[in-house]
Amino acid sequence: MDREIASTLGELERKLHELERTLMDIGSRSQPGGDGAPGRRTVAEGRLVDEAIEPREPAAPAPTASLSTQRARALQGAASGYGQPPSAAELLRFRERLERTARELTHDYDELLGRLRAAESPPAGPAISFARGAPSLDIIDVRGLREAAMRAFESDPGGTTAYGTAVGYPRLRAWIADRHGVEPERVLLTNGSMQADAFLFEQLVRPGDEVVVERPTYDRTLLSLRKRGARLQAIELQSDGIDTEELARLLGDRRGSRPKLAHVIPNFQNPAGHTLSLAKRDALLALAAQYGFIVFEDDPYVALRFSGESLPTMVSMDPERVVYASSFSKTVCPGVRVGYLIGAEEEIAQIAELATNTYISPSMVAQSIVYEFCASGAIERSIETVRAALAERARTLAQALRRELPDAQFVPPEGGYFMWVTLPTGTDVGALQRAAGELGVSFVKGSDFMLEGGENAMRLAFAGVTPAQIEEGVSRLAAAYRSLA
Ligand SMILES: Cc1ncc(COP(=O)(O)O)c(C=O)c1O
Repeated sequence: MDREIASTLGELERKLHELERTLMDIGSRSQPGGDGAPGRRTVAEGRLVDEAIEPREPAAPAPTASLSTQRARALQGAASGYGQPPSAAELLRFRERLERTARELTHDYDELLGRLRAAESPPAGPAISFARGAPSLDIIDVRGLREAAMRAFESDPGGTTAYGTAVGYPRLRAWIADRHGVEPERVLLTNGSMQADAFLFEQLVRPGDEVVVERPTYDRTLLSLRKRGARLQAIELQSDGIDTEELARLLGDRRGSRPKLAHVIPNFQNPAGHTLSLAKRDALLALAAQYGFIVFEDDPYVALRFSGESLPTMVSMDPERVVYASSFSKTVCPGVRVGYLIGAEEEIAQIAELATNTYISPSMVAQSIVYEFCASGAIERSIETVRAALAERARTLAQALRRELPDAQFVPPEGGYFMWVTLPTGTDVGALQRAAGELGVSFVKGSDFMLEGGENAMRLAFAGVTPAQIEEGVSRLAAAYRSLA
């Protein structure tokens, strides 16, 4: 690296000297009595301006010469002396060339500076991740989980260590059913809700089927649906949820073609943090009934509300038309990999068959531990710990952004893990991500959550960072943003 930097610097310095020599030469020749010794070259030969860049014989560069060497030789050609002072037009053209060369030099120089800065000044402290949608260790009830694990093996060694069944560990299945006020037959447990999504898509979506998604939406949903060959219809997400009027217009304009499924993250959406209003829940269900599609309610953040009123789940509003998924990843910890689906009994039975053929059964050990954790009441304490910590983190993030990055626009979320931040149009968030990375801060680009667009937006996850890290992270982010100017 040192040798590379030294050679780049040497090259830049050489170019600069050549430029200086050229300028001095022009200056002296355009002065009365300057070193414009007539007869050294004719005016016809001495196309000063053009030769400054494109020297003619014999100074033509060897084919192997690098561009910078060619430029250097060209400049040298101009510096070698001409008989006549240049005309105003020639000088003007030369000025343009000079400007272009200066821009190129500055670009090389900036690049070098960036590399030097990255090499010399490693991040101002430990890396800070606004990228990961996972809780930090300090808000995970590790002790409660350890105790739950002990109880799981003591109270039900047979059930905990068995294959079990594809629908999940029976006691946890019953506990979830009770919590949602549904029959256990309508519940199926999976290894994380991502697996639940995958089963549902496998069950319902065929290549070419249309699926409505929010814009933006969870990147893994997009990936999973694309892999299944679905035709994605992205509908704008507003601060009160998916734009149901746009969806109604779209469905009304068409005759015949109907979506199979609408995937919606109703509470504290990933990535935008927005929540679907009650009026829009009604509107969406009405459209689902009118046009005969299923609503997939993907709801892992529902328990983590900081403010405002809790809203009914859509599955409770229309049990026939909605399939619901949730998870213990966000309220207990992602490592347990326990998620679940609630749907019509028949649908769940079909998915159970799919699950059996896929992996026989999900992890009974994990589900038995989660059951003990839930049955003991530790789940309520865990939710409260995570909820309170995240409320403070969201507040800290909003305050820090307002103070450090006033160009940032966002709607503070009423719960969950994420904040969606929009920067002025034209901001290159990809470049910001690279600059922030050099300062030890990461986030996910807005464009990762959309089929197209989102270039000036980003998702900041605040669940995995403490308030002190948020303060530091935002100040580094703001420094990275300023460096783009
Ligand atoms: C909307 C949404 N659905 C599903 C998942 C997957 O969660 P799990 O860890 O339960 O697989 C996530 C995780 O970030 C998510 O945000």
